[in-house]
Amino acid sequence: MNIEKIREDFPLLQLKHKGKPIIYFDNAATSLKPQPVIDAVNHYYSEITANVHRGVHRMSEESSKLYEKSHKKAGQLINAKEEEIIFTKNTTESFNLLMYSLFMQGFFEKGDEILVSAMEHHSNIVPWQFLEKRVEVKLNFVELNNDYTLDMQDLEEKISGKTKLVSIMHASNTVATITPAKEIAKIAHDHNSLFALDAAQSAPHMPLDVKKINPDFLCFSAHKMLGPTGIGVFYAKKEMLEKMPPFLYGGDMIHTVKRHSSTWNRLPYKFEAGTPNIAGGIAFGAAIDYLQKLGMQNIERHEKELTKYSLEKMQEVEDIELFCPKDAEKQGAIVMFGSKNMEAHDLALALDEADNIAIRSGMHCAEPLVSKLDSEGLARASFYLYNTEKEIDLFAESLQKILSVFGK
Ligand code: ALA
Repeated sequence: MNIEKIREDFPLLQLKHKGKPIIYFDNAATSLKPQPVIDAVNHYYSEITANVHRGVHRMSEESSKLYEKSHKKAGQLINAKEEEIIFTKNTTESFNLLMYSLFMQGFFEKGDEILVSAMEHHSNIVPWQFLEKRVEVKLNFVELNNDYTLDMQDLEEKISGKTKLVSIMHASNTVATITPAKEIAKIAHDHNSLFALDAAQSAPHMPLDVKKINPDFLCFSAHKMLGPTGIGVFYAKKEMLEKMPPFLYGGDMIHTVKRHSSTWNRLPYKFEAGTPNIAGGIAFGAAIDYLQKLGMQNIERHEKELTKYSLEKMQEVEDIELFCPKDAEKQGAIVMFGSKNMEAHDLALALDEADNIAIRSGMHCAEPLVSKLDSEGLARASFYLYNTEKEIDLFAESLQKILSVFGK
């Protein structure tokens, strides 16, 4: 991959603030957008604005075609069928769809168990807490090993005949751990449990194949993979979607409507009620095209190199501690860190102010884990396909300088 050439496609990387270009290391929160994605949004609003599935005129036909094509592209990206790809708002909504639909189906009963991990994002904890209160299911947590990898022995011990759903992240947005998703799917299925995989932090960074991993459900967001905000994916096996009741009711998700009864639209539209995020869906298609052209394997390889390099560089910075496996083979392109001498938010502010470096600080939407590691929160640098080793050098230098000037 020619990173310098790729960087030219990202308008934000061309901007300077107080004379310095941005070093954007907040990719786990959201990624930057390349010109073809921005153009796709513009094209919809300036040339083909129309509602989808609701008109026979040219622009409605064109926008419906592009919107549907994006479902197909998202399906191809993870080796799923077009009708198995439901567009939601984001990963959080995908998990809510899963929870509400299974709840309405009466899938969970009192005493059933749901198994998540100790490092889950709030979107894979809070919806299940609703079921703890409403149905009295028990939410169990698989713990982490000392190196922040998932404790598979603990998983084997906590899963049982009572477990109805195992819902675990593929790559952590905090400690960066990559979980053995295929192995977990097998363990879950061997116990007659369903398996949901949170791919919000893996789908943007590595090839994914639902036929190989075999999750029953998979959730991810477009905005972390070059696409716009407000569009996400809920994948489920077709036979699941056929059984599951809709999550939202109203326009477009219906086939026929009588005064007191309705039938549902074909998949995936049974789960897409109301006018959807059309521009977002179409531009997501452009983002997938961009990623596919580069090749997910090449993106993964580049990021592995960056991760390895950043781990080496950051371990040289004095007075910081890294909270991740410190092994590029076991983790994604994220380094979470903290310093006893300076709070995470102060560090992030100082990096921004001094050198136009954007990182995230705080609880990272994973408070049960992060608050245990540091009650004040931690700092996080997260990389993507357009980042370079040179940026990591500048970041490590800036970090060291800030800590030596402002650190206690
Ligand atoms: N989940 C996103 C993050 O980790 C927002 O920053």
